[in-house]
Amino acid sequence: MSQELWAAVDHYINGLLIPPDPALDAAVEASRAAGLPEIAVTPTQGRLLRLLARMSRARNILEIGTLGAYSTIWLARALPEDGRLVTLEADPKHCDVARENIARAGLASLVDLRLGPALDLLSEIAAEGQEPFDFVFIDADKENIAPYFSWALRLTRPGAAIVVDNVIRDGEVANPRCPDPMVQGVRRFNEALAAERRVTATTLQTVGSKGYDGFTLALVNG
Ligand code: SAH
Ligand code: DHB
Ligand code: MG
Repeated sequence: MSQELWAAVDHYINGLLIPPDPALDAAVEASRAAGLPEIAVTPTQGRLLRLLARMSRARNILEIGTLGAYSTIWLARALPEDGRLVTLEADPKHCDVARENIARAGLASLVDLRLGPALDLLSEIAAEGQEPFDFVFIDADKENIAPYFSWALRLTRPGAAIVVDNVIRDGEVANPRCPDPMVQGVRRFNEALAAERRVTATTLQTVGSKGYDGFTLALVNG
């Protein structure tokens, strides 16, 4: 089993199921040209996010960690015309690239892109008292996954879905002595998740062109 094989199989699946898409392809190209890190979800994962948001009949989506808005575009396409997606990004350069990519995709009216540290923006969102979110994608700094998850619980309705990226980290998540602060952040989240009665959750390991990692999927009970 190897990275080469995982990437080849992703390539095969993309060829079968994910046709070239001008807006997404341009977002990848513009993100690369601007020198953003190449850590967006893969096409098959983007399609998965869109399917999950659609299966949840999401009208209000919250994304934490925008980067160049690649996952944002996938998620926004699951929305009805009067839906909305709020996406949070701390890096002004990422935010600028994301804004252009969202506009080019024709999604500017659906997407509310906010610049700042997510923990600050989440407090502001809570204070605004808008409709609860139906779907949350957590994909920012891994050190703060546990607080992001508790904000997600506060800001969602019963029946909402919460998806968390990067929860396996090459399998290091199962190593309690791993010194990587990202892995320790995931482990703190896992402990909170295990004790959390308000959700039903599972964690899936994934391989593909982005290596060996995984997602947590949680459904808010009720
Ligand atoms: N969801 C994107 C990838 C996000 S990468 C996609 O799949 O296309 C993680 C992003 O989180 C980076 O752009 C990084 O700048 C941002 N980030 C890191 N720390 C943050 C914080 N404290 N608040 C908000 N965004 C943060
Ligand atoms: C990395 C990957 C991600 O999907 C992410 O959101 C942040 C970082 C990484 O591999 O470093
Ligand atoms: Mg990620």
